[in-house]
Amino acid sequence: IKRTKVVDVLQRTDFGAVVNVKGWVRTHRSSKSVDFIALNDGSTIKNVQVVVDPSKFDESMLKQITTGSCINVNGELVESQGAGQTVELQCREIEIYGLCASDYPMQKKGQSFEYMRQYAHLRLRTNTFGAVMRIRHNMAIAIHKYFHDHGFFYFHTPLITASDCEGAGQMFQVTTKNLYDLKKNDEGKITYDDDFFGKQTSLTVSGQLEGELGATALGAIYTFGPTFRAENSNTPRHLAEFWMIEPEVAFIDLNDLMDLEEDFIKYCVQWALDNCKDDLEFLNKMIDKTLIERLKSVVSGSFVRLEYTEGINILEEAVKNGHKFEFPVSWGMDLASEHERYLVEEHFKKPVIMTGYPKAIKAFYMKINEDGKTVQGTDVLFPQIGEIIGGSVREENYDKLIGEINERNIPMKDMWWYLDTRKYGSCPHGGFGLGFERLILFVTGMQNIRDVIPFPRTPKNAEF
Ligand code: 4AD
Ligand code: MG
Repeated sequence: IKRTKVVDVLQRTDFGAVVNVKGWVRTHRSSKSVDFIALNDGSTIKNVQVVVDPSKFDESMLKQITTGSCINVNGELVESQGAGQTVELQCREIEIYGLCASDYPMQKKGQSFEYMRQYAHLRLRTNTFGAVMRIRHNMAIAIHKYFHDHGFFYFHTPLITASDCEGAGQMFQVTTKNLYDLKKNDEGKITYDDDFFGKQTSLTVSGQLEGELGATALGAIYTFGPTFRAENSNTPRHLAEFWMIEPEVAFIDLNDLMDLEEDFIKYCVQWALDNCKDDLEFLNKMIDKTLIERLKSVVSGSFVRLEYTEGINILEEAVKNGHKFEFPVSWGMDLASEHERYLVEEHFKKPVIMTGYPKAIKAFYMKINEDGKTVQGTDVLFPQIGEIIGGSVREENYDKLIGEINERNIPMKDMWWYLDTRKYGSCPHGGFGLGFERLILFVTGMQNIRDVIPFPRTPKNAEF
């Protein structure tokens, strides 16, 4: 008989039927008259209980089936006597696929996440990581569905690039090195052929520039792919390799852009509430007792829209009233996370979309306001997370854009193809980037970005 996933077994009520399940043993409790094996196959947070009559099986075989073992079971669906589940399996046959060595690192419950990070290859088998990974999958589906349903085209931008979108110089360089055919120089040192592309290339920090090419041809596009930043920041919010979603839309203005940001995030959060119930309930119980409540309030409430200048006024007011910040507050500064936190968590107690930033602290491509000082950038700031989205209306005026490029000493010859969008039928347009892992942090209530991606890449860590 064909395998039935645990998620489906638990829905069934055709008692008496024989089903086949395969999975990993979560726990095995045995007594003289009966053994209980909790089996999980990753399809759901829930286990199916396999009830074994030990008199019908080889005792030494049964004894070897410990936590972490992989088994194949045929059993009869029976109504469960225990609380918390309606069905269980009365075991007819057991086959051992793989026993689990006694030093299995995921054996004990309640290990710290820090401990589990050392076992990124095995932590996926724990309840928490199973829940997080299923939610991660669901969020990816929600994102594609949202954009597809709204007429955006999924657009693939290159990972290897010769330009630095954010102008921060935090790029991983691309070189070639054939591991099996290493060139050696006279001193026996390994040499690299750095000229594969005929110019220096890096891993992309953002697909935006190419995304703008897509939007100014197809109308509305979105990217969804890996992004790389060689920033040496060891924080619970930064990865060297993360996934970013970047919609880019022609003929959009600042208000419509902010509406899109808000509507999109709410859609994703609602999707999780609708489609990840069991996993969210588990995380709500184990990780954060206010999680589901917070998700619901984000969907039902509206985001605050705040001018940067107004934000600075609020922070200055807070300082006057005795609030202590580590970094001083003044117009022109880039907000530190303590400032964002204050606005979002203490002052408004809601997500905030901030706009009208001083142009000096933002990237070259943002549309300059009439005042000549501020730009139409929008950051979405979230409770617990900080910046979850960074976006802007783009400067579509050729001369103004050149001015900003020059002011920042960005090499113009590398940007010729980008500048062409402003030369040939330029149009108002804008877009944003959502950090996928930061969204997953918010939706799962997890505290560290290393724990919402299967194999995190951070400084000094690319083990798995
Ligand atoms: O604010 P950022 O740097 O904006 C851009 O890259 C724009 N080109 C996006 C656009 O307009 N198309 O990054 C966007 C988002 C941030 O708000 C944050 O959520 C996430 O990407 N992000 C990171 N996430 C994890 N680790 C990092 N090191 C991140 N850097 C940015
Ligand atoms: Mg940003």
